Amino acid sequence: MRVLVSGDRGYIGAVMVPFLRAAGHQVDGLDTGLYEGCDLLGGPEPIGGRAPRDMRDVTAGELTGYDAVVCLAALSNDPLGHLNRDATYSVNLEGTLNLARAAKDAGVGRFLFASSCSLYGAAGSEAVAEDAEMFPVTPYGETKALAEQELSKLADDTFSPTYLRNATAYGASTRLRLDIVVNNLTAIALTSGQVRLESDGTPWRPLVHIEDISRAFLKVLESPRETIHDEAFNIGRSEDVVQVRDIAEMVREAVPGSTLSIADGAGPDLRNYKVDFSKLNDTFPDLRLEWTVRKGVDELYDAYRRHGLTLDDFNSAQFVRLRRIQQLLGAGLVDDQLRRQTAEQFPGPKEMN
Ligand SMILES: NC(=O)c1ccc[n+]([C@@H]2O[C@H](COP(=O)([O-])OP(=O)(O)OC[C@H]3O[C@@H](n4cnc5c(N)ncnc54)[C@H](O)[C@@H]3O)[C@@H](O)[C@H]2O)c1
Repeated sequence: MRVLVSGDRGYIGAVMVPFLRAAGHQVDGLDTGLYEGCDLLGGPEPIGGRAPRDMRDVTAGELTGYDAVVCLAALSNDPLGHLNRDATYSVNLEGTLNLARAAKDAGVGRFLFASSCSLYGAAGSEAVAEDAEMFPVTPYGETKALAEQELSKLADDTFSPTYLRNATAYGASTRLRLDIVVNNLTAIALTSGQVRLESDGTPWRPLVHIEDISRAFLKVLESPRETIHDEAFNIGRSEDVVQVRDIAEMVREAVPGSTLSIADGAGPDLRNYKVDFSKLNDTFPDLRLEWTVRKGVDELYDAYRRHGLTLDDFNSAQFVRLRRIQQLLGAGLVDDQLRRQTAEQFPGPKEMN
C-alpha cells in the first residue's frame, strides 16, 4: 500500500515508519518538524530535502494516490495541553480533521488515527472497553475524544476511519521521549541511582511498547475494510496494565544499584484507569504483541547507556516535549498556536542553547 504517516519524525513515528516499510509498504512522511535534532543514538533516517509541513494546511492535492493516511501528528501529552489549551485543540482537533477531510477528498480509503486510552480519564476500578463513556480529565484527552467523534461523521462507503486508542507508550526510539512513565523512571534510575515516584504509586496504567503499537497499526492497515471501518480499538496487553509502583519495582530490579523512593506527601494522580483489550484480541486473533514492560526497561537501559545519557540530558529540551516547545516559543520560531514562523528546518535543541 502507499501510506502517508503524519508525525513521522516523532517518538512513535521513528519506529513505525521503518516497521511498515519492512512489511513491504511504500511509506512517506509529513511533519512540521518540532523535534528535529531531538535525537537519541544518531536520530532517525535523515529527512533529506523534504520541507516541513503543518497538517493544518494540507490540501487534497498533496494526498492523491495514497491508500491510507496514518495520523500520529499531535501535541502529544498532558503538560503541553496545560501549557496552551488552544494550541492543543488547534493541532489535535482541527489539524487532524483537516488532514482527514483532505484525505477523503483525495479518495484515500483509510485513515488510522492515533488516539489514546487517556480519553477514558478517571475511569474507576473496572477495566474499560471501547464502548465505555469518555471522561477525559485533560485538554489532551478531550481533543482525542472530540477528534474521534468528528472523524466518525466522515465515515462512509469511500472513507474508513479507525481509532487506535493506544495505552501509554514505552520503549527505545531514536526520537526518545522522557516525559512518559517507563522511559522516565528508567532514565532517572540510571542517571541518579534513584527510582523516584512523584505520586504514591497506586494509580493503574495501561502500557504498550512502541513496536507493538506499530504492529497493531500494520494489522489494521492490512485487515479487510469491514473489520476496521469506523471502529475503535484499545491497543495494549492486559498483562501490562500495572500500578506505577510495579513499574518502579521493575526499574529498580533492572538498574543495578538503584533504590526506590516516594516523594514526601505524594498522593495518587488523577490519571488512573484499567483498560480491557478483548476487542483487539478477538478481532485480530493472530496479532501477537510481543513486548513486556520488563523487557522494555532492559532495552531502554541499554539504549541510554550506549547513548551516554546524563542528568543534564534528562532535564533538557532534547527529550522532554514541553521543554522543546518552550524553547521554540522563546526563540520566536513558532507562534502561540505553534505555527512555524520560518520555512527552514528548526535548529536542534543543542544548537539553540
Ligand atoms: N507516546 C504515547 O505514550 C502515546 C500514547 C497514546 C497515544 N499517543 C499518540 O500517538 C501519536 C504519536 O505520539 P508520539 O509519542 O510519537 O508524539 P511526538 O510528540 O513524539 O511526535 C508527534 C509528531 O507530530 C509532529 N507534529 C506536531 N504538530 C504537527 C502539525 N501541526 N503538523 C504536522 N506535524 C505535527 C511533531 O513534529 C512530532 O514529530 C500522538 O497522536 C499521540 O497523541 C501517544
